Amino acid sequence: MNNPGASAAEARRQQQFIEEGRTLVQALGERLGRGPTACVVTFGCQMNARDSEKLSGILEEMGYALVEDEDADLLLYNTCTVRDNADQRLYGRLGRASGYKKTHPWMKLALCGCMMQEASAVEKIRKSYRFVDLIFGTHNLYRFPELICRLLSGEATPVVDIWNQPELIVEDLPAKRVYPFKSGVNIMFGCDNYCTYCIVPYVRGRERSRTPREILREIEALAADGVSEVMLLGQNVDSYGRDLPETERIAFPALLSEVCRAEGIRRVRFMTSHPKDLSPELIETIVREPKVARHIHLPLQSGSDEILRRMNRKYTAAHFLELVTQIREALPDAAITTDIIVGFPGETEADVDATIDIVRRAQFENAFTFIYSPRRGTPAAGWEQVPPEVAGAQFERVLAVVQETARERSARFTGSVQEILIESVNEKEPGLLTGRLSNNLLVHFPGDASLIGRFERVRLTECRGFYYMGELVRG
Ligand code: 5AD
Ligand code: SF4
Repeated sequence: MNNPGASAAEARRQQQFIEEGRTLVQALGERLGRGPTACVVTFGCQMNARDSEKLSGILEEMGYALVEDEDADLLLYNTCTVRDNADQRLYGRLGRASGYKKTHPWMKLALCGCMMQEASAVEKIRKSYRFVDLIFGTHNLYRFPELICRLLSGEATPVVDIWNQPELIVEDLPAKRVYPFKSGVNIMFGCDNYCTYCIVPYVRGRERSRTPREILREIEALAADGVSEVMLLGQNVDSYGRDLPETERIAFPALLSEVCRAEGIRRVRFMTSHPKDLSPELIETIVREPKVARHIHLPLQSGSDEILRRMNRKYTAAHFLELVTQIREALPDAAITTDIIVGFPGETEADVDATIDIVRRAQFENAFTFIYSPRRGTPAAGWEQVPPEVAGAQFERVLAVVQETARERSARFTGSVQEILIESVNEKEPGLLTGRLSNNLLVHFPGDASLIGRFERVRLTECRGFYYMGELVRG
């Protein structure tokens, strides 16, 4: 997988397609009498968000103007399939897109991402959504320039290119960041854990780590380009490096420390840890490295040992709580956030009580709660399901406790002065700016848009549920 020579050659090959694409996009512009536009819509997680930055970068290099409106000359949906509602949202959007296409017949509609790695979804799209022009998956994203050229040079549609296996890690292609000052950085791809509810290992493939050298090179280049905060991305960052050749192998805590040494980088985040693998070394590293954000996302999924066993999570509720205790002791200012699934096959009221018990004890700063969604091809999809109305009622029970504890817990920083990275102008109130604390909570405060991208200090004057109001502290 790590074949630097082949990766570099492929990156050069795709760069040539970008050149070729530029001519094709220009010709399209001449026909339209204006510059062609492209819109990339992202569903799902941080990995997809980062992939979309790469896809957008390629489109921009080819000469498309990137726009937010979906009635663009090229519309790309980067899909997610982790739960069924993501699939349903895509089908809704496709219905709308077919309307735009009727009035703009030259428009090209492309689909990529996790859902395209599922044969059944692709079959349905090819049968019932025949106006889709291009379909590709997660393993050949770096071939996007080539695929766009095929599409624009008039190949019969749909152009479909989906691989079952990853071949190379190709990263040296353009990317267009949503925020100039922060960026996700993939440190690994795929997942080997096979939790019984989860489709990720099937659509993202086996675990592959990038070498520390490659990762650091990318981060240094990002820093030189104005990035001061990076988020290291992987489905299970604690198992980073295990697949690397011995000469290049380092564990995640060592990688994290190395990243902190990169000049210009002021804050380092990571996502996601797995409770079965999170090590004392990682906690020690965070304590030692002030640049590492005080935030650990640690998915619990369930507080019942029996459900955890059937989810194939490989830890117990007691182990999870022990980790939380260790983190709270070593890092009293850190936020711990989590994911919880309610309505897993066979889950009883007592199992849900066990989850609620852990939520109360762990005192998460935030918890994302999901109703279990059967995914085709995963073991749990074939087990006896909890009726939707029962799952819905249990979900409400968990959510009420999650919200109550998170609200209490988040308020504990009121009155303190904290460093924030200022990210944007507040959408609802343009006089306010929005910044992110090291622990990932947001704060809104009066200020001028010229401060965006800077680290400043704010006093947290009031907690409003899951965010703060504050004021800048100068000097
Ligand atoms: N149903 C519901 N939630 C799921 N997740 C993953 N797969 C499923 C599923 N089939 C949740 C898990 C995971 C988060 C990213 O999505 O909680 O941590
Ligand atoms: Fe899915 Fe489990 Fe891998 Fe997370 S660790 S991506 S939940 S299989």
